[in-house]
Formats: sequence, C-alpha cells, structure tokens
Amino acid sequence: MNRTSLSKPKIGIVGMGVMGWQYAEIITSLPNGELGWVCDINENRLQRAISYFPVDGFKDFREVPLEETEGVIIATPDDYHREPVLFFAQGGKHILVEKPLATSVREGEEMVRACKEAGVKLMVGHILRFDPRYFLIKARIEKGEIGELIHLYARRNNLLSNAKRVGGRTSPIFFLAIHDIDILCWLKKSPPKWLFATANSKLLSHLDTYDSAFLLLEWEDGTIGCIETSWVLPDYSPSGLDCELEVVGSEGAVHLRIDNQSLQIYKERSEFPDTTYHLLLYDKAFGILRAEVEHFVDCLITDREPLISGEEGLLSVKVAEAAHKSIENKTRVEI
Ligand SMILES: NC(=O)c1ccc[n+]([C@@H]2O[C@H](COP(=O)([O-])OP(=O)(O)OC[C@H]3O[C@@H](n4cnc5c(N)ncnc54)[C@H](O)[C@@H]3O)[C@@H](O)[C@H]2O)c1
Repeated sequence: MNRTSLSKPKIGIVGMGVMGWQYAEIITSLPNGELGWVCDINENRLQRAISYFPVDGFKDFREVPLEETEGVIIATPDDYHREPVLFFAQGGKHILVEKPLATSVREGEEMVRACKEAGVKLMVGHILRFDPRYFLIKARIEKGEIGELIHLYARRNNLLSNAKRVGGRTSPIFFLAIHDIDILCWLKKSPPKWLFATANSKLLSHLDTYDSAFLLLEWEDGTIGCIETSWVLPDYSPSGLDCELEVVGSEGAVHLRIDNQSLQIYKERSEFPDTTYHLLLYDKAFGILRAEVEHFVDCLITDREPLISGEEGLLSVKVAEAAHKSIENKTRVEI
C-alpha cells in the first residue's frame, strides 16, 4: 500500500473530457497538491490537455508512472470506471472516482472489494455532499429542526445536448438521478426499502437510453420519496441545470431550488451561468468541485478515510440498478 504522510501528493487524471479538465484546473490551483500526469485514450483530447497543462500525457493508463503517483482521479465515462479503478487499486494508489461508482452492482462490488484488499482509499465524487446548500439541509435535519421526515422530493433535469454527448453509454438515472439518490439516502441514513420507477424514450431511442424517469421510493419507517430526472430540456433553456430538493418533516420543511446561481445574463439568448460548482476566479479554480478535491487531497495528506466511501457509492448504484429493473419489469423492486 502507498502510505500517505505526504505534504504534496502527486495526482494523475484518467479521462480528460469535461470533468477531467476541471479536475486538472483544480489540482494545479491547490497549494498542497500536484498534477502528476494526464491520460486520455483520445489523441486530440490528450494533445489539447498536455499543451495546456505542463505534465506528461498517456493514452493508456497502464503506462503512467505509478511510482511517482500517490492518487488518481478517474473521470472516464460512467460505464468505464471499473478497469482503471481495479488497475490503480492493484498498484496501491488512492482513488477518487466520478459518480456513479459503476453502472452495475456487480462491478461496483468488485471495485470496492479490490480497494479494500489493496488497502487504498476509494472516494466517490458525489459532489452535492460539498454543496453548502445540501450540507446545510443535512445539518438542520441532524439537529432535529425538521422533525421526523415525512416526504422527500428531488428533481435534476438537464439539457438534450448533454444526453446526446454521453447518452449512448449511460442513462439519466446513472448520470443524473444518482446525485439525488445519494442525497436522499444520506439524509435518511439508509437506502429505501423498495422503489417503483417508470421512464420513457421518445427523443433518445436511437441512443438506447431514456429521456425522463420518475422514481417513487419508500423507507422502512414510512418516509416516502420521489426523484424526477430528465435530460431532454431544450438547449435554449437559460440554465443547464434545473434542480430541486424538498424535505417535509413533522416540525418543518425545506425547499431548495437551483435553476440559476443568482446571475442572469440577457443577450440574444438568456444565460444563467454556473457561479458555484466550478469556475476560474483570477486563474484559480473556485467552487464546490474544488472543495471535493481538497477533501480527497486532505485525506491523502492526513491519512484519513474520505467522507464518501466506496460502500456508500455502491449503495446508490444498488438503488439505480433497482430503478432500471423496475422500469424493465414494470414492478416494484425491493432493495
Ligand atoms: N460531478 C458532476 O457534477 C459530474 C458532471 C458531469 C459528469 N460527471 C461524471 O464524470 C465522468 C466523466 O464525464 P464527462 O462529462 O467528463 O465525460 P467526457 O466524455 O467529457 O470525458 C470522458 C473522457 O474519458 C476519456 N476516456 C474514455 N475511455 C478512456 C480510457 N480507456 N482511458 C483514458 N481515457 C478514456 C474520453 O476520451 C473522454 O475524453 C462520468 O462518470 C460522469 O458521470 C460528473
């Protein structure tokens, strides 16, 4: 195992697409982390990355310099997390893997087991845990201010262009709803007892994925929940993200609405840009994603276990897989 009494761990990134690029901007902004290398199977993306970030680039993650690496961020597509996670676990490297941990319970279990056996840290990038709004909701529930939870509702809707970009390899449940599955299980401190899900495929049938899905959930203690997810919002929507979280309890209620980040720009086309998750502020990465990466790096430096374990990531995969089963069989599925 790679012990980590380190002051400035070297981190490599596999997958230099949208997320990998943001991770590289973050690591290069941190005073206590260092970007070791980047990797992408796509030659153009790799060349673009190494001409911008001053590090070595690799097309094959099996060829990166393991001996000079303390941690790895896996930002490959949803259905390709298993192979790099197993490889780096066997190489004794600590891992931050993007959500979803995997697109099947079988693969997720294998990944969690491999990291345990190798004694490496495995953190799953459920970014909302670092979003101050979700953090505050959790804190107020924990203080008992909302009382006994009666019902939970979460929405996460996204643009059609995003679905077309990644849809052939995943579903709106694994790509989007997984965020809210994680949050609801976190707030309830347990997964639901059963769920029923339904979905349709009108605009995206050629990609063999769903347009929209609704999940109905019930917990052991009678709390009920609903998750709405879709990625067919028109591309001219001013915000790429239309999210909501409602928690109704015996002593109070919480309502979070995120369809803009306070800033609205009107030109030929209205635009609600991201000002919270990730942006460059005077050339340094700023935002919620940075908080997530800082936590991972901090865990490496102080040899602590990350807040979001592989087991928790696996729990969300179990719920997501159950939702797919429910849609296919048109039945309620026990979890
Ligand atoms: N936390 C969030 O808010 C958030 C947002 C978007 C995406 N994601 C997650 O991040 C992950 C990546 O998503 P993305 O939008 O950046 O996707 P992307 O398609 O933009 O990037 C993925 C990259 O991985 C590369 N890749 C594929 N196979 C590879 C291999 N074998 N070796 C090396 N590189 C390989 C691709 O060439 C591509 O550049 C997904 O799991 C996704 O669900 C998280």
